[in-house]
Amino acid sequence: MVVERVKGGVGAAIPHDSGHLHVTGEAIYTDDIAEARGTLYAAIGMSERAHARLKSVDLTKVRAAPGVVAVITAKDIPGKNDYGPVIADDPIFATALVQYHGQSLFAVAARTMEQARRAARLAVIEYEDLKPNLTAEAALRDQSFVLPTERLVRGNPRAAIASAPHRLSGKIRIGGQDQFYLEGMIAYALPKEDGTMHVYSSTQHPGEVQHQVAHALDVAAKDVVVECRRMGGGFGGKESQPGLFACVAALLAHKTRRPVKLRVDRDDDMMITGKRHDFITEYEAGFDDDGRILGVDFVLAGRCGYSADLSGSINDRAMLHSDNCYYLENVSILSFRCKTNTVSNTAFRGFGGPQGMVGIEAVIDDIALYLGRDPLAVRKVNFYGVDDRNITHYGQTIVDNVIHEIVADLEQSANYHARREQIRAFNRTSPHLKRGIALTPVKFGISFTATHLNQAGCLLHIYTDGTLLLNHGGTEMGQGLFVKVAQVVAEELQVDIDRIRITASDTSKVPNASPTAASSGSDMNGKAAQDAARKLKARLTEFASTHFAVAPETIVFRANEVRAGDKSLSFNELVKLAYFARVSLSATGFYRTPKIGYDRKTWSGMPFYYFCYGAAVSEVIVDALTGENRLLRVDILHDVGKSLNPAIDMGQIEGGFIQGVGWLTTEELCWNDKGKLMTHAPSTYKIPVASDVPEEFNARIYESGINAEDSIFRSKAVGEPPLMLAISTLHAIRDAIASTADHALSPRLDAPATPEAILFSIEELAARRAKAGVRAEPVLEASS
Ligand code: MTE
Ligand code: HPA
Ligand code: MOS
Repeated sequence: MVVERVKGGVGAAIPHDSGHLHVTGEAIYTDDIAEARGTLYAAIGMSERAHARLKSVDLTKVRAAPGVVAVITAKDIPGKNDYGPVIADDPIFATALVQYHGQSLFAVAARTMEQARRAARLAVIEYEDLKPNLTAEAALRDQSFVLPTERLVRGNPRAAIASAPHRLSGKIRIGGQDQFYLEGMIAYALPKEDGTMHVYSSTQHPGEVQHQVAHALDVAAKDVVVECRRMGGGFGGKESQPGLFACVAALLAHKTRRPVKLRVDRDDDMMITGKRHDFITEYEAGFDDDGRILGVDFVLAGRCGYSADLSGSINDRAMLHSDNCYYLENVSILSFRCKTNTVSNTAFRGFGGPQGMVGIEAVIDDIALYLGRDPLAVRKVNFYGVDDRNITHYGQTIVDNVIHEIVADLEQSANYHARREQIRAFNRTSPHLKRGIALTPVKFGISFTATHLNQAGCLLHIYTDGTLLLNHGGTEMGQGLFVKVAQVVAEELQVDIDRIRITASDTSKVPNASPTAASSGSDMNGKAAQDAARKLKARLTEFASTHFAVAPETIVFRANEVRAGDKSLSFNELVKLAYFARVSLSATGFYRTPKIGYDRKTWSGMPFYYFCYGAAVSEVIVDALTGENRLLRVDILHDVGKSLNPAIDMGQIEGGFIQGVGWLTTEELCWNDKGKLMTHAPSTYKIPVASDVPEEFNARIYESGINAEDSIFRSKAVGEPPLMLAISTLHAIRDAIASTADHALSPRLDAPATPEAILFSIEELAARRAKAGVRAEPVLEASS
């Protein structure tokens, strides 16, 4: 007998549900929504100082400009002048004090977008300049922090370092990164009857925007609906900060009683919104002859910008990922959350995890160079064990460690050792072009570290024609969440996926949803949808059992059909019968992640439900005279458990990797000494493009992957972890640089490793080598 399968069930490599709309330009983003009669357009008036007192703000010319209908400042806010997601330190409009260049001061609504933007530039503002703190160093010097300093200690790192056979110390600067979502920040607010407001917002967190708008308007949550069908990318940038734009649009809509759209242009978006936190990481490590780390001490300084935003959780995650795949028996991590007069840095794919991991990988690389060993050997010596050496520095026992298998497989398939030899041979005869190779591993913890966020809801309807409408609290930003959740429903109810209409995230359908973040979208919404689908299936089963007078156990749903004893009918027929028998065909589903919970005060417990693993090998070629470089070949093996959709997952793996390469090699944010961001457009800020994809790019899903925990169909989250595979590229560049000094010294290389940074690193290495006067003797100079 041939067992039919439903179309688009779990595990099917089907395209993104909106793929055909994305490529034809028919997908409706917020700016494409048909505009209501009388729509006005808004623009934000921005601060031109990084740190100043506002002496006077004269908006006369703004109000008199052509087309202007309304101008608002903090005085026009009926409710709270704040949109801070955790702490109330993010004013919608600055009042007495401005804290960064680009900060919002007032807003204009005009008949056209052009008129609004022109009018916003006509303000006459008098500032009394204050000294801006622009860097983490400056903040450290002044002890200027957005949140208290944190320390996590296990064992006795000081003693372990002091008594270790070898010691080294170092420092790495890790740059920030703009999310560079293709669709910029946008909100469209429509006033409805009786003081209610409907807001279309490009946001990863509609529920939070709902509250931010309600607070600003001084109305209740029930009076605000926030809707988002899709974002043109979020990458963390739309986790907390869309609230500003939604509040401004809603305030102007409230004031004018007309629909208001606020779409900021790219330059303004980059000046106003937060980015990945740049870090300064200092380390000291003690280790043995094999390179095994006996004790390590980290000091992390994350630049948070002017306000707290999500910086607490982000810096926490950096601390929690300072181990990556390595067992650190004696470790101290001191974490400073630096307050500066720059944009408020926020979530970005990996959420602090990548910065933590870059730190420990730098330690490993320095140790390898010091000992003259293959960095991969040093990595392996330090891997977490499976049955021993398997407790993290925060006390969570790792029960799903597959990094040994993944690395062993990749080492073979990427031909790592032979290529390393070939590269060494090539470099010996090539004076200026130098190749480098590196294999780095990834372990990434899945769950929001703020435990309460690990919950999700779903709403599922079956209509009498046997088609379904699916809604859940997750948002779609291109990552393929909607199709994966629909696959779960198709699988559970055994109906083809094309019967399921996937609908916009909407606070009036599923309440109190968490942000779609921490890579947990499909884990949580998939489970919530499964819960809803199972409820409906149970009702249909119970009905069929009564209707056909058969035992419930004999009822089987299979590929759009239902068998009840020896009867067989279509799903549609059953639904119709159930409707006439007055069976409810709508259900909600709910999920909360089990097991997790940890105490942030003692840094102990189980913050993560499980871990994702992967590894990558990068090979680069560097021109030692110019610093120019190319990524020649990349091999990836990544664990997604049992994939819900291998096509979508592969897109996340490849895309995440390339985005990580951008972070670590080309994307450089520059502020001038007055605190103005100078790289606020693609002309000066270089994200990877198609031609930056390596010629040979072999990405594979780890076929024997399976989630050790009871996740949705044993799949694993995939959104963020692959970004960190790009650390291999940074280390391949380091390897190429190290070859210019016969691998005798450890290069100083900060991220991003732009051509200039590479050239400086090579020159600094040459100077240090000349000074040390060594040839093959490994020397690593203490830098602190
Ligand atoms: N993929 C695309 N195409 N666009 C995005 O904005 N965001 C990433 C990742 N992949 C993003 C993406 C981030 S930061 C996260 S947390 C996850 O997707 C969120 O979605 P998920 O939880 O459904 O994986
Ligand atoms: N990850 C991503 N987003 C978050 C988290 C997290 O751990 N906590 C709060 N927002
Ligand atoms: Mo992703 S940084 O958790 O939105």
